[in-house]
Parts: sequence; C-alpha cells; structure tokens
Amino acid sequence: MNRAFWKEAVVYQIYPRSFQDSNGDGIGDLQGIISRLDYLQKLGVDVVWLSPVYKSPNDDNGYDISDYEDIMDEFGTLRDWEELLAGLHERGIKLMMDLVINHSSDEHAWFAESRSSKDNPYRDYYIWRPGGPNGELPNNWSSIFSGPAWELDEATGEYYLHLFSRKQPDLNWENPQLREALHKMIAFWLDKGVDGLRMDVINMISKVEGLPSAHHEGLAPGELAGGGEYYMNGPRVHEYLQEMNREVLSKYDVMTVGETPGASVEDAILYTDEDRHELQMVFQFEHMDVDSGPGGKWNVIPWTLKGLREILHKWQVGLADRGWNSLYLNNHDQPRMVSRFGNDGEYRVISAKMLATLLHTLKGTPYIYQGEEIGMTNVKFPLLEDYKDIEILNMYREKVTEGGADHDSILQAIHIKGRDNARTPMQWDATDNAGFTEGTPWLKVNPRYTEINVEQALADSDSVFYYYQKLIALRKKHLIMAYGDYELLLPEHEDIYAYTRTLEDEQWLVLLNFSETPQTVELPAELAAVKETIIGNYPDEPSAGDRGTLRPYEARVYRLGN
Ligand code: NOJ
Repeated sequence: MNRAFWKEAVVYQIYPRSFQDSNGDGIGDLQGIISRLDYLQKLGVDVVWLSPVYKSPNDDNGYDISDYEDIMDEFGTLRDWEELLAGLHERGIKLMMDLVINHSSDEHAWFAESRSSKDNPYRDYYIWRPGGPNGELPNNWSSIFSGPAWELDEATGEYYLHLFSRKQPDLNWENPQLREALHKMIAFWLDKGVDGLRMDVINMISKVEGLPSAHHEGLAPGELAGGGEYYMNGPRVHEYLQEMNREVLSKYDVMTVGETPGASVEDAILYTDEDRHELQMVFQFEHMDVDSGPGGKWNVIPWTLKGLREILHKWQVGLADRGWNSLYLNNHDQPRMVSRFGNDGEYRVISAKMLATLLHTLKGTPYIYQGEEIGMTNVKFPLLEDYKDIEILNMYREKVTEGGADHDSILQAIHIKGRDNARTPMQWDATDNAGFTEGTPWLKVNPRYTEINVEQALADSDSVFYYYQKLIALRKKHLIMAYGDYELLLPEHEDIYAYTRTLEDEQWLVLLNFSETPQTVELPAELAAVKETIIGNYPDEPSAGDRGTLRPYEARVYRLGN
C-alpha cells in the first residue's frame, strides 16, 4: 500500500460562473465562493478543483484563456483569488486549478502576434497550414464543437487548427519555446501556493506528424471526420508530460489529474503509473459514452447497468496495480448523474445516495461536482434561447438550422445530454434565483430549486448532503476505502452492482440496486456473514433475514467477518 494524500482525498469541483454571485451581475465570482467556504468545510472535502478563472472572452466559459496569469474581470481580481486560496488553506482545503493548455483564446497576446505575419516569432506557437490549391481545408478533421477544425485567417491567408471553437486555437507543442513558456506559467501558479492541477484535454497536445486526414469507409470527398485517432494520445504526449514533470511539477508537492477523452486502460496506465512521472490520475470517458449510439454523444441510446458496470469494472481491474482511477459520474460537461443514472423523480434522494455510495466505495479518488451533494437534477428548458453552451448552440445550428434535422428530437437530446444541465446556478435556497444572485442569472435557474436546495438539505438530517458528509468522513477513518482491493460479484446481474473491497484482514461488501424494483441477491455463504453495517441509504436497517433483498435503489455497505 503506497499511501498518498491524493489517493485518500475527496475533490469538490466548482464551476465558478454558476456557484455564487456576490455583486448582482448574474455571474458567479470569487467573493461568492469565499462566502461559501464554510459550507465546503462542513461537507468535509479535501480539495477544491476550480474550473478556469483566468482572463477570458468566455466563448467557452473560461476554457478559452486570453491571459494565463490574471483573473477574469467578472470573477474578480488576483487579490480576491489570493483571499480564496488563504480561506481554503485556513480550513485545511487544498486548491486545484484548471490548466487549459491544449489551446488558448484567439484573444491571447500570443495569438495576436502569431496571426500577424508568417515570420512573427510567435507564429509557431500555434498550428498554421496553407489550404489546398482549390481552397480545400488543410485536412478533413471536424471540430469537437461542430464544423471544420480549421479557420482561414485573412491576414496571412493560412488556416489555423482549432479542435474546439474557432476562438480556441490549438497551441503547437512541437515548439520548445511554447512548452517553456507554459512551464513558466505553471510555476507562476505553483509558486503562489496552488496545490493541484486539473489538465484540460491534456491527451490532445501531441498531433500526428503531417496532420493526416481521417479515412473512414463511406466518407465522401470533402466530408469532415472526427480525426481523434490523429490527436488523442498522440506520439509525443508522454514525452511532453514527462518533460513538464521534470521541469516543473517534480519541484512542488502537487496533485494532478489529466482529462483524457478517448484514453484506453492501457493509455491510462502510461499516464498514471507512478514510476513514469507523468500524472497521478486521469478522467477517462468510456463510461460517459454508455448512452451514446454510433452517431456519438447526441445519438442518445438507453444505457444498461451491465454496460456501465462492464466499463467501470474494466477500469477497476485495469488500474489495480499500476496507475490510479478518478471516480466521477458528472461534471460541468455532463448531465446530472441522478437524472442520468438514477431516478430524479420519486427516488431522487435514495438514488442520488446509491450513486454516491458507488463513487465513494470503488477504488480511486472521488470527484463531486457542485450540486451533486444535494441531488441537483437535469433541466428541460423549452426554448433553445435559454441555452448558452457553445457546444449545444453549434450542434443545433449544424444539425437543425443547416442540416434540417427535427427540432423536437434535437431539443430532446439536449435535455438528456446537454452540458447546460450541469451549469444551471447552484441552488442555495428557495428565494428568487435560488439565492445564487440578486440580479438576472447568466443561465436560468432549474425550476426545481424551491424543492432542491442547500438550505433544505442542511435542515434535513436524512438529506443527500449528510450522506455525502458521512461517506467523506468514513474515508478519513477507513483506509480500505482508498486502498482495498476490488473484486466483482454477481457479474451477470441485470440490476445489482455488487463487489467486495479487501485490505489485509478487513473486508467490505458493497451492494447497489440500480433499479426501482426490489431485487433479491444470492451471495456465497462466506459473504453472508455480516459483522457490521458501515452505511446504507435507507433510514431503517433490514433485519438479518431480509438482507438478501435490496429495496429500490438501495445501497448497503457491510463489514464482513465473524
Ligand atoms: C474540456 C472542458 O472540460 C470543457 O468544458 C471544454 O469545453 C473543453 N475541454 C475545451 O477546453
């Protein structure tokens, strides 16, 4: 057992734009966060991951950075940020900043220089290519936010690459000066006392040489294709990460997690094997695709527990000895977990607790996304105008306005999968705008705020909040939660996810019912010997004779032994 803080920690993600507004402009800010630190301390989290707060024109809500070393005007100033850091540290909470270095904003000074002329010293900070002789794009890659991944820039008549929006040009990691500039910027923040870094799409920083067009069967000439195989987990990514580690990270005590869409278990081992000195853990995405059809994210298909469990199990086993898992079911890019994997109607509270039990009893580091701890749900805005997310709006334009798809079915997909589900303001109380702002919120509040809010949760000892508090406290007491070996039980069960965790002579049994009907489980006799109930999501304990039946969405964790 190789103990480390980051393996034992619980992380809480704040999306600052939607957390707490302090000045009535309808946008969350740093002073707003500061005013809620006691709440985070009460919950008991060890680390706060702050989504980007740097200067940004907000084409993608801060994931388009125009100055890496200053704070966005709407959020406050560097002094506010220092006050936030001090406030967290006083409460024993660490701060993890978001590092967005696959791309910058097109309004970054580097890009202004870069686009100004072909021989500008910053030209090579970004990825420029000429078009074809007949005005063809440099290759057929599509942007993750729809349309081509290339934008023609009039000044020099060349195209620049943007895997995300056209206001997010990709940085050219092939350039050693760019890498050095990024290392210096990272050191700037670590010198200020930052404790951790979450690295945005960090597995996309190395593109295959020559940027080849994607070839898929049936692709028409000129048709766009994903191209991910040429930029996800690319040829030099491990070299770049090892260099960053050597040059900067290794000089500090810093917690790291890389966001790595499209990473396999094998890739993740390479990123997170401690002997390789790259990252401590990654956010893998396989389980986030469990409800995507062949058409991708917006092609929504029903998920099954079997499908979800198969993926989570594969990652548990795959990183058992080398590497480390991060555990999440939602974040600012995903719909709310209780709406997606639980039941946000009759069983909202029970199923939110069941899912929390899963996240905190698998092996890995749990990440809580703001509002998850009170069971916040998806939202169904009836009008497209109510949505603000660039991914949603671009996709709608491509599919409906330009592509002629049916409005209602696309709106339905947005209701299920859209990122704005997670970005509606935090629900603090039942007053106007859920106590988030005294102004007009930048994105509408979820109408369920009168029923689902922090004030209500804190007043109800049986709330989702207190269940999270309990899970976090348990992790502090029981090393088995971080380090115990995981073993799957009942691998064929349609509705129950069951497993054991074992550390030395201690063994826990976890039973989770993912359905809204009672389920009976048959476990081997040696697993039936229950010593103690560690936690359960129903207020009353089943009698020993009834332990074999799990009520709707019931979660139980037992310590085994005689
Ligand atoms: C992943 C971030 O989590 C997401 O919000 C953002 O849009 C893209 N990366 C681009 O930075």
